[in-house]
Formats: sequence, C-alpha cells, structure tokens
Amino acid sequence: EKGGYEHFMLKEIHEQPKAIQDTLTGRISEDGKHVVFNELDWDQNYANSINQIHIVACGTSWHAGLVGKAVIEKLTRIPVNVEIASEYRYADPIVSKDTLIVVITQSGETADTMAALREMKKRGNRVLAITNVVGSSAAREADDVLFTWAGPEISVASTKAYTTQLIVFYLFALFLAEKRNTCDSQTIADIVAALRQLPELAEKSLESAPIVQQFAQQYADKEDAFFIGRGLDFSVSLEGSLKLKEISYIHAEAYAAGELKHGTLALIVEGIPVIALATQTHLLEKTISNIVEVKARDAFVLALAWEDDTQVESTVDEVIRLPRTLDFLAPVVTVIPLQLLAYYASVARGNDVDKPRNLAKSVTVE
Ligand code: M6R
Repeated sequence: EKGGYEHFMLKEIHEQPKAIQDTLTGRISEDGKHVVFNELDWDQNYANSINQIHIVACGTSWHAGLVGKAVIEKLTRIPVNVEIASEYRYADPIVSKDTLIVVITQSGETADTMAALREMKKRGNRVLAITNVVGSSAAREADDVLFTWAGPEISVASTKAYTTQLIVFYLFALFLAEKRNTCDSQTIADIVAALRQLPELAEKSLESAPIVQQFAQQYADKEDAFFIGRGLDFSVSLEGSLKLKEISYIHAEAYAAGELKHGTLALIVEGIPVIALATQTHLLEKTISNIVEVKARDAFVLALAWEDDTQVESTVDEVIRLPRTLDFLAPVVTVIPLQLLAYYASVARGNDVDKPRNLAKSVTVE
C-alpha cells in the first residue's frame, strides 16, 4: 500500500506531480487561456458583489490560506483576511453580507474549522469550502465546494494536500479576476500556461532529494533551526518550519526575514541551520542583506533559489536550485525540498514519520 516507499509521507511527497495535474484537470478551458469552475455557478453579479474574503483554517491549511490571500489580493484587489479557525470562531468577526468565507480543510472534519463554517452560515454568510474529501462534513455543509483531488493523504504530516490547496487558490483567484475584470486576458493566459507546467516542475523539484538528505543527516542532532523569507517565501517558511517541528521534533521558527533584527537575531549563533528562501525577485536584495546578517553570526545557511540565480549563491553555504517558474507560483516548487527536509530529519532521528507523537490526522476535538 506504500507503493514501494518506506513511509506514506515519502509516497505522498512523490505523488505531488500527479496530484497537481489532477487538481488542474477539467479546470482549464480548451484553448488553455481561462479557468473553468463548473462547480461554481456564480454569475457576474455575485462575483462583483464580494467586498472582502475571510479565509479560515488550521495548521498547514492555514499556511495555504496565507498564499491564497497574497494571490487573491494580487489578482483581484479584494481585501482578504486569513484567520486561525480556533481564534476566529470566538472572535466575533466583522463581516457584512458581502463577505465571502472560505474554509480550507484537507479532511473536511477539523472541529474548529467546522465550527467556524457553521457559525458563519448561521450569520447568513456564503461559505465556500476547499477540501480534499468528498462527502466530508465541510463538503456537505458549505454553500460551494472546490475539491483538491489530491487523493487520500494518510501521513499525519500534510504534503500533497498543501500543494493542491495552493493550486485551487491560484485557479480561484484567476476565476475571480476574470469575472471581475481585474486582470488583462494576456496576464491570465500567461499564469494559466505557467500553472500547466507545474506538474513537470514539481517532478524536477523532487530531484533536490540527495542534497536535502545530506543536509538533514548533517544537522539532525541540532535542536533549533530557522526558516527565513519575505513575501510568499515567508508563507512557505512557516509551512517548512511546521513540517520540521511536527515530525522531526526539532524546534524551528519561521521569520519574516526583515523581522530578525527586531528581537531574534540573538538566537542566531554559530552553526545554527538557517534555511533561507530566496525566490521573490523584487525582494531579493533585501533578503540577501538578511542572509548576510545571519552569516555574520556564523549560521549555516541553506538557500532555496531559482536555477538561474546568480546573486544568492555567493552569500550562502549551500543552495538548492529550484526549477524556474513565475515568482508568483514559487510556493509550489519551494515547499517540496522543505517537505523532504522534514522527512529526512525525522528518519535520521529515528522517529515514527507517519505518526508523530501526540498528533492525529484529523483533529475532531477542540
Ligand atoms: O484536515 P485539515 O486540513 O483541516 O487539518 C488541519 C491541520 O490539522 C493539519 O493541516 C495539520 O497542521 C497537519 N498535520 C500539518 O502537517
């Protein structure tokens, strides 16, 4: 059942190219220029009436929501909040009838996310669920549903669910942008074309495994690690950090690179592993200056940079080269080496990779 892999997590990491393909299938027009969501029978009027979006989720799904916010805001200019479900449900959120609630949950059963869904429906808001499980509570109770089609995810650590959630957010943002006319058709066609390349690029991103494995083995006895990045790279840093903590039990923190000097720099000491995500070209100069700061404190820096990068390499100890796509789509290829890092660190420490201590796959209690 593990298809020749030692753990479900490794199998699911490797299933990502196919999962991404399955998520895209049937959602792109024949001419390859538009998004089609047959599951959303939204007319122009409804699409135009949305004046804010609240994305509500837990854990990795919340991290996907952070990328979703950036993507939706960029393409549609609709203001988006991303909320942690266990906070949101008790926070008496400020919404109007034109606030769209998007809940995102792989399992479709997470207690806090479901409570938020029910509360917002009761208030009369329209709720869209993004979920992986057909027939789940979220799929049954939401007004609209977008499935991620990742296939069953067995490992507690979420991998292919996250990448397919990202794909759904890209498609959804494009769909809204087309309906609301906030993007020219060439931009939309270019992003759609780039999305179609992602299964192949995810495959290439998996080729980082040997470097990542070596790094993980070398640093497996460390008790702390830092992930830094700016913009979308920061959102993915949060996910990389959670994954490492969850299955390797190494304490990790993700920092918006520019925040380091506001309190944390004292923790960057000799030999500490810092994973620096450096894909956002418009922020690169700033990220590099943050990398130089941690290098000055003798951290060991592993960077994730584009394959054609010429700037990052000279400032770091080791580079993982990512297959080129739009900066905007970077999270899909960047997260894969980070998943592998958590995986190999967990294996090196002799942990139960698929069933980390004290965690359940689906958190159905508060
Ligand atoms: O099924 P959900 O997406 O609602 O689950 C939310 C979180 O419990 C989940 O993403 C958790 O953070 C993962 N185990 C992280 O790998």
